[in-house]
Amino acid sequence: MDTQQILDTISRIVHIGTVIVLGGGTVFMWRVLMPSAAELPDAEHDKLREAVVSRWKKFVHAGIALILISGFYNYARLATGHKGDGLYHALVGTKMLLAFGVFFLGSALVGKSKAFESLRQKRGRYLGILVALLAVIVAISGFVKVRGKPVIPVTPPAETASVTN
Ligand code: HEM
Repeated sequence: MDTQQILDTISRIVHIGTVIVLGGGTVFMWRVLMPSAAELPDAEHDKLREAVVSRWKKFVHAGIALILISGFYNYARLATGHKGDGLYHALVGTKMLLAFGVFFLGSALVGKSKAFESLRQKRGRYLGILVALLAVIVAISGFVKVRGKPVIPVTPPAETASVTN
C-alpha cells in the first residue's frame, strides 16, 4: 500500500464514520430522545435540552469540518476519473448542495442565533427534514459509488484532408 492509498483509505473511513455518528445521533434525537423527554415536567425538559444541545454542538461542528475536509479530498481524487461523465458531476454537485443545507440546518438547531429561533421552536420538524436530506445524500453517494465509471466513447480527431492526385 503506498501513501496515496493510505490517505484514500483514511479519508473514506473519516467521511463514512463521521456521517454514521452525525446521522445516527440525529435519528436518535428525533425518534427516541425528543419523544421521551417530552414526558418530563417543563423545567426538567428545558434543563435536559440545554445539556444535550451544548454537548451535541461539539459533535456537529467537528463533524461538519471532518465531512468537508474528507469530502473535498474524495472529490479531488475521484473527479478526474470521471471526465466527461456529466451524470456523476450533476449528482455529486446536487449532493454537495444538499450537504450544505444539512450543515446549515444542523448548525442552526444547535446554535444560539436569534434569527434561527423559529427553527429551534419546531425542532422535531427540522430534525425530520435533516434525516430525509441525509437519506437522499446517502442514496446519491451510494449510487455514484456502485455505478462506477461508464465507458465514454472518445471522439476520434477529425481526419486531416489528404490530397490524392
Ligand atoms: C451530510 C453530508 C454528507 C453525507 C451524508 C455523505 C455521505 C457519503 C457516503 C455514504 C459516501 C459513500 C462512500 C462509499 O461508499 O465509498 C460518500 C462519498 C463521497 N462523498 Fe460524501 N457525504 C456528505 C458530504 C459530502 C461533501 C460536502 C462532499 C464534497 C465536498 C462529499 C464528497 C463525496 C465524494 C466525492 C464521495 C465519493 C463519491 C464516489 O464514489 O465517486 N460528501 N459520501
